[in-house]
Amino acid sequence: MERFCLTKKKTIRVNEDTWIVLFEEQIDFSPGQFVMLETPKLVRKPFVLGWWEESLAISAQVKGEGTKWIVEEAEKIKGHGPLGNGFKRNGKGLLIISPTCLTMAKAFERTMNVDVLVGSRTPILTPLEYETVIGNDEFLKKLSSLPEYDWYLVSGSRSMEKVCWEHLRGKEVYFSLEEYMGCGIGACKSCAVFTESGVKHVCTDGPIFRGDELCWS
Ligand code: FES
Repeated sequence: MERFCLTKKKTIRVNEDTWIVLFEEQIDFSPGQFVMLETPKLVRKPFVLGWWEESLAISAQVKGEGTKWIVEEAEKIKGHGPLGNGFKRNGKGLLIISPTCLTMAKAFERTMNVDVLVGSRTPILTPLEYETVIGNDEFLKKLSSLPEYDWYLVSGSRSMEKVCWEHLRGKEVYFSLEEYMGCGIGACKSCAVFTESGVKHVCTDGPIFRGDELCWS
């Protein structure tokens, strides 16, 4: 893990509340790993690492002052990483993601054989090369008619995770969890999740877990 300062290069609006943020610098990381970025009030937020237009990039959903600052005002952003465990699977996989994970999908495409399905609550405002479904009804319809893959990875909201688990239970399916993280290094215990083998921490044991390892009730 390293401390660094990233220089914002440009932002691209993806939908109503989500942007892709591109950086000048490069960082070595494995697909699935994340960074903790610092906002002005010293609140650190986790962002899964990825690529866009050949630049290091994150996807950021504006949920409050910190993410608004990252998208609209920041020029240089301090952080540390890469953190968490990388992910690698053979065979053909399907990534089922929200727009907040678009840049992560690019990182997976570099090292794995994957298709990508994007589910967005609101219309997409930039051209995407991925299959995209808008709204809950269309997303549910799509889930019911998915072709067979060797494995699946879901990364999005908690409700997206739950509905995907209902449709894909019994298959090899993984979830990249986006629990609140305070430190990213196993010190604060704010990212604890219940699993079949006891309490685990998303930042150090994950962030990607197999679906049948997680407690869903
Ligand atoms: S974020 Fe602090 S222990 Fe996981």
